[in-house]
Amino acid sequence: MEIIKKINKCKLIVNNLREKNYKIGLVPTMGSLHEGHINLIRMAKKNCDKVFLSIFVNPTQFGPEEDFKKYPRDIKRDSALAEKEGVDYIFYPTVQEIYGSDHKTMVEVKELGKIMCGKYRPGHFAGVTTIVLKLFNIIDAHKAYFGQKDYQQMVIIKKMAADLNLDIEIISGPTIRERDGLAISSRNKYLSAEERSNATILYECLSLAEDMVKNGVKDLGKIKRIILGKLEDNRFVKSVDYFEFRDPRTMEEIKRVDNGHKSILAAAAVWIGKTRLIDNMIIKV
Ligand code: PAJ
Repeated sequence: MEIIKKINKCKLIVNNLREKNYKIGLVPTMGSLHEGHINLIRMAKKNCDKVFLSIFVNPTQFGPEEDFKKYPRDIKRDSALAEKEGVDYIFYPTVQEIYGSDHKTMVEVKELGKIMCGKYRPGHFAGVTTIVLKLFNIIDAHKAYFGQKDYQQMVIIKKMAADLNLDIEIISGPTIRERDGLAISSRNKYLSAEERSNATILYECLSLAEDMVKNGVKDLGKIKRIILGKLEDNRFVKSVDYFEFRDPRTMEEIKRVDNGHKSILAAAAVWIGKTRLIDNMIIKV
C-alpha cells in the first residue's frame, strides 16, 4: 500500500493503472476509519482491481462554529486498518495541496443542498460537492462508494455526477450500525458514556416511524408529532434540527402515504448534548 500526498503523483499513478485497463474504485473519507468506511472499502475491493481511499478532513464543508479543528485524526491507525483491508493507495493530501491559497470555485447542487442538513449547515453541501468533484478529477476512478448513513449527501453526489456528465458510477453502501442500533460515526467519539447510551433514541424513533407506517398509519404528520414528542421527552436530546419524511429519489417532502409510494425516507438530525447526530431509514411501504 502506498500513501500519496501529492495531486500530480496521484494523477500519474491513476493514468498508469488506466493504461493497464484496471478498474479503479475510490472510497472518499475524512479518516478516523470505522466499520462504515471498512464496509465501503470491502465493496470496492470486491468490484474493482485497484482501490483508492482518500483521507482528507475537508475544511470547506465545516461551518465556522463546527468541529473542523477537533475532528478526530489518526493517520497511523487509519493506514494500518486500510492496509489490512487491502487498500492499494491512500490519497492523503494537506489542505494547502488541495485548496492552495487562492481557491475560488465552488460546486453547488441547487435546492437539494438547501433542505434538511443543508438548512442547518449553510454551505456544507457546496463544500462536499466541491471536494468530491476535485477528488474525482484527481482520482479518475470508474466507481466511487458512498454510505447511505449520509443519505442526502449520496443523493446530492449522484445528482452532481448526472448533471455534470461525470463518467463515474456512484455506488451506495448500507448504513452500518452498532449492536444497539446507533449508526456508526466518527462523531460518536464526542459522546459521554451517558450520552452514548441514550443516543440510541435516534434509531428507536426511526424504527418506531417504520412500525407505524408498516401498521398502516397514513398521516405522516401524526407520526412526526409522536416522534418529536418522544425526542423532546429524552433529557439528553438538546434539540432536534429536523425529523422528516421524504421521497428517497426526488427528496420531496411526503405528508401522507398513498398508493404511489413504494418506499419513504425517514431522516433526522438531533443534538445529543454538544454532538449533532444524523440517521435515516428507508421504509418499504
Ligand atoms: P466521512 O464522514 O468520513 O464518511 C465517508 C463515507 O463513509 C461517506 O460516504 C459516508 O456516508 C460513509 N459512512 C460513514 N458512516 C457510515 C456508516 N455508519 N455506515 C455506512 N457508511 C458510512 O462523508 C464524508 O466523510 C465526507 O463528507 C466526504 C464524502 C469524504 C467529503 O469530504
